[in-house]
Amino acid sequence: MKATLLLASLAIATVASAAGQTYLEETFSDNSWEDRWTTSSSKDNLGKFALSSGTFHPNKDYAQGLQTTEDHRFYSISAPFSTVADNSKEDLIVQYTVKQEVAQECGGSYLKLLPEGYDAKTFNGDSEYAIMFGPDVCGPENRIHVIFNYKGKNYLTKKTHPVPRDNKTHFYRLTVHPDQKYSLVVDGETQADHVSLEEHWEIYAPRTIPDPDDKKPADWVDEDQIEDPTHVKPENYDNIPRYIPDPDATQPEDWDSEADGDWEAPEITNPDFEEWGPKYIPNPEYKGEWKAKDIPNPEFKEDPELAHYKIGGIGFDLWQVKGGSIFDDVVVTSDAEVADKFMNQWKENFAKEKEIVAALDERKKKEEEEAKKAAEKAAKEASEKDKHDELDEDDEPVAKKAEPEAAKESEPEVAEEETKEAEPEVAKEETKEAEPEVAKEETREEVKEEPKATKKEEKDSTETKHDEL
Ligand SMILES: *[C@@H]1O[C@H](CO)[C@@H](O)[C@H](O)[C@H]1NC(C)=O
Repeated sequence: MKATLLLASLAIATVASAAGQTYLEETFSDNSWEDRWTTSSSKDNLGKFALSSGTFHPNKDYAQGLQTTEDHRFYSISAPFSTVADNSKEDLIVQYTVKQEVAQECGGSYLKLLPEGYDAKTFNGDSEYAIMFGPDVCGPENRIHVIFNYKGKNYLTKKTHPVPRDNKTHFYRLTVHPDQKYSLVVDGETQADHVSLEEHWEIYAPRTIPDPDDKKPADWVDEDQIEDPTHVKPENYDNIPRYIPDPDATQPEDWDSEADGDWEAPEITNPDFEEWGPKYIPNPEYKGEWKAKDIPNPEFKEDPELAHYKIGGIGFDLWQVKGGSIFDDVVVTSDAEVADKFMNQWKENFAKEKEIVAALDERKKKEEEEAKKAAEKAAKEASEKDKHDELDEDDEPVAKKAEPEAAKESEPEVAEEETKEAEPEVAKEETKEAEPEVAKEETREEVKEEPKATKKEEKDSTETKHDEL
């Protein structure tokens, strides 16, 4: 973790090298993040951020990031770059990680690149941004947003990039190339590689339009169906009525023609009538739907400066139903080497997280099986007891007494099972390798209970880190 700590001390400071410029490198290694990030004053009761390593992790220091700590809250913080980022001549790489240990019901975890001169104090959901990038989840709806601002309007991508939805740390990288192309990497996998923005966004007017002067030819056949000429109407069809007066009906005797009018027999379906209707068949002359031919759109204009920005900082402006998102390793750079170094760290961590989760799942499965077996055993014992009691039927009170006894007998087993379930999720009998991986987390509650102890611990570990350096 030496490298991380060294980088942390350089955080925010612009690092320029031959390979490019790094505008932000935020690892949230210690409390100094509070000096770099400003909470917006635009709303009361904004959710609070705090450092956290989460409840399971291969490496506590690496895992530590900035966490949203409250449910049902807006969050709004931003950090300025010390140098305005200009991506007109080089790539702009924006990347970070998000860990969502408690499944998000509805909430964003995206970040926003803010224009030069943005105001950190008034920063809010309506503030103009250059680019918005990252996961957004609401119920089953989910997508990784990539939104570009162009001349004051925000353009969402037409392409749907799904959000990985589990409790591991996920990695997101957007690269905006200066030639109006972008690349997207999620969890180390390339989702888009130098794809033209025109292909995945409708920012420009369309290249072609239907020619307004084009007219449908007079002889264009656009009926796709015609009447089948071989399906002819029976000759006498029009002369046979569908309904006829009922020949069996007779005028009621009390019919009063003066009051009710002339009596008419009620109608019945004519038994000689046979339904006939025209039949339709595909028209052999059909030419298809007519469309005006396309011509170049005079409104279309390519803009070589599309997605070129002057970016002054970065912000999180979010609404979350469930807090708990841990953001980390936020990097904005034009230097692919810097970006890759962080991606490689993430890869290593991700592989280990997978192992931890697999071990947890395995243990859960075992526990469930054991609980099932124990329950079956208890049920079997109880029914055997019942059978035994039935044999003593001559003495009813004994049978009644036996019931609570049977319950008592099975009780300890159930209790044992419950205790096991309540235990920390990581098995004591697990391999040495797995053991340090899942730290007994200082939960927020614990921090509240023992603030001094926790602070001291933090201090100690920081000192250790300094010593290492
Ligand atoms: C993470 O997800 C796995 C399921 O894949 C689960 O077994 C484990 O308990 C979860 N961990 C936490 C801390 O929620």
